[in-house]
Amino acid sequence: MPTSSTKTQQAQTPRQAVEVKTPDSQPQEPSKPSAAGACAGSQLPNYQPVIITIDGPAGTGKSTVARQLALRLGLDFLDTGAMYRAAAAIMIDRGIDPDDIGELVSLVLGADLHFDWQQDPPTILAWDTPIDHRIRDEDVTKGVSFVAAIPELRHHMVRKQRVIGAQHPRLVTEGRDQGSVVFPDAAIKFYLDADPAVRAKRRIEQLGLEDTVDLGEMCERIVRRDEIDSNRADGPLVCPDDAIVIDTALHDVEGVINLLEEHTRERIASLLNAD
Ligand code: DC
Repeated sequence: MPTSSTKTQQAQTPRQAVEVKTPDSQPQEPSKPSAAGACAGSQLPNYQPVIITIDGPAGTGKSTVARQLALRLGLDFLDTGAMYRAAAAIMIDRGIDPDDIGELVSLVLGADLHFDWQQDPPTILAWDTPIDHRIRDEDVTKGVSFVAAIPELRHHMVRKQRVIGAQHPRLVTEGRDQGSVVFPDAAIKFYLDADPAVRAKRRIEQLGLEDTVDLGEMCERIVRRDEIDSNRADGPLVCPDDAIVIDTALHDVEGVINLLEEHTRERIASLLNAD
């Protein structure tokens, strides 16, 4: 994993923007965009497809900053963890035996997991029924790493995420494998990291568990989840070679969003100038 003294690092071999068909409603032959369109404070030119991936371990604040970055730039936001969480909720609520992978996979495929893009942030549905209220519950959080390690399920999720990327080609997507597996040609990739103790403290505060869970216990849980996410055979948590690495322990939330926005605008401007 790249490291740097400034704690942010641009990779050596940035790749080209992902090629995605523009929807019919967009101009067929847009005039050449100018780098000025990527100036601070403005949204990105609305005809320009851009996929931004944000990966990293649990508790680095990915969801919060990804959503805010999307809002600032006028892009859609995809929380891929919600899809794995929904699968875990289905397993628990339907009483599926965890050893019966075949049944679990066929049930999740039949649930047609999808997002309601009218909501902000988009909410997830299974069998056309909202399931958002369930996916952050403690039992789901405990079971999700197991579910996310099932290769057949991951293949299904990766396919779905690529379809979403084609339908929403201006997207900030966050997870564990977005830059490494799902969108290897994304225009901009970030990898957020932070010391496990910092992440554990944040998690406790975020979930309001100050009186029930101690820091050491939460830290152990987080390290265990990191191990499962990093060591699975399929789509393990890795830092893509061409990702910009940000240590979120060194900045507050606003500071991280500012950094993401700065890097994104620089990258977009350089892509536009290179055209
Ligand atoms: O980011 P999160 O805590 O909501 O993720 C829930 C789980 O799903 C976690 O165990 C990691 C896993 N996950 C994954 O394997 N791949 C993704 N793209 C997103 C999440």
